[in-house]
Amino acid sequence: QEPPAAMAVPQAGDPGLTLLSRVGVVDPSSLDDYRAHGGYTALRRAFEIGPAGVIREVTDSGLVGRGGAAFPTGRKWQATASQPDHPHYLVCNADESEPGTFKDRVIMEGDPYALIEAMTIAAYATGAHKGYLYLRGEYPRALARLEHAIAQARARGLLGDDVLGQGYAFDIEIRRGAGAYICGEETALFNSIEGYRGEPRSKPPFPVEKGLFGKPTVENNVETLVNVLPILTMGAPAYAAIGTERSTGPKLFCVSGSVARPGIYELPFGATLGELLELAGVRDGLRAVLLGGAAGGFVRPDELGIPLTFEGTREAGTTLGSGVVMAFDDTVPLPRLLLRIAEFFRDESCGQCVPCRVGTVRQEEALHRIAERTGAAAADDIALLREVGRAMRDASICGLGQTAWNAVESAIDRLGAYE
Ligand code: NAI
Ligand code: SF4
Repeated sequence: QEPPAAMAVPQAGDPGLTLLSRVGVVDPSSLDDYRAHGGYTALRRAFEIGPAGVIREVTDSGLVGRGGAAFPTGRKWQATASQPDHPHYLVCNADESEPGTFKDRVIMEGDPYALIEAMTIAAYATGAHKGYLYLRGEYPRALARLEHAIAQARARGLLGDDVLGQGYAFDIEIRRGAGAYICGEETALFNSIEGYRGEPRSKPPFPVEKGLFGKPTVENNVETLVNVLPILTMGAPAYAAIGTERSTGPKLFCVSGSVARPGIYELPFGATLGELLELAGVRDGLRAVLLGGAAGGFVRPDELGIPLTFEGTREAGTTLGSGVVMAFDDTVPLPRLLLRIAEFFRDESCGQCVPCRVGTVRQEEALHRIAERTGAAAADDIALLREVGRAMRDASICGLGQTAWNAVESAIDRLGAYE
């Protein structure tokens, strides 16, 4: 299947395309073409300023994780780099399984060398010599392009024992996921690489201290990593000037559903939800927008003024997550949609802890009853959903169980789904 359209919309005063500048422009199979379009400039600068200099730039840029949790990247890198235990590992989380998320796919298919260069920089900064790229199993085109790019980089001395002749050794191994949503959770992902069941571990200890094979590990999402390239080429102050004070840089948004032009949009943080939907051509009869994917929450059509920043969505009582924006018009039956989300969580729960294993089943049962009553909910169904939702949020080990009730709760409270 063809990848979704990659679109970026430079507007007056915007810096233009940053993350998608090469997507659809370079030949993803050609290292020479990548270099002709600015490739490997950032790695050269990294070698000039050294690991501590790279971490300083990333910290000063204000970059936070783009997988959904928005943890400061510089802090994560510093914490890994300073661990006395060795070896250190780098893991790129390319499992991209959040429903409605397809931004990492577009980067990996359209600009694979960018990810390899960014991984090399991250590993250099944090003292790692081995990187794992954990790739969603359903991305065969990304796999083929990345395998080719890694082989080319290795053949040309950009991976291997002596990267760019700088005496630094680094190589990348791709591991494919097998369709489990939970393997995108970082510690379940480590277990999967190690050959165990993909079950999350309790945190702390955090991966920066004890991660893959029990060693200090920096784990970053694809989009997070590729942001390091513009940070190093334009410098932290110029990068930090993009977006808002607390959400710096450009962001990729995955727009789908009831819109005329679904696809990936690159915008500086701070554009409103309404502005983004206008670019995507929102259809008449908008009923709801799901932000942040199945783990996120719904907002109403009268809330399109919400700024697309981490702080703005938080203040509005919702989440930006990994940048999912799914529009639903009034032809979509909400009770069926919520039931589908609940089925997803029940199916994907790893079953390790009781609140999530049992809670996701109870949630689905209640939504089933409601859907069978053609969408009408009895008060005791709603009360049960709230009680189960609270237990999952408070007592689940990992983010899956903790967020499994978000979408349903927001549909009840914000959309009045069953009124
Ligand atoms: P988290 O908040 O537990 O952790 C975020 C990152 O910060 C992790 O790498 C963690 O190790 C690190 N961290 C947190 N506290 C730390 C500390 N004190 N010291 C050092 N490192 C620390 O969130 P989590 O569970 O990793 O991710 C949840 C998010 O993932 C959700 O917001 C959800 O939107 C998103 N998600 C994204 C998916 C996708 O396909 N992109 C799929 C599913 C969920
Ligand atoms: Fe597994 Fe759910 Fe517990 Fe996470 S919250 S460890 S997915 S059972």
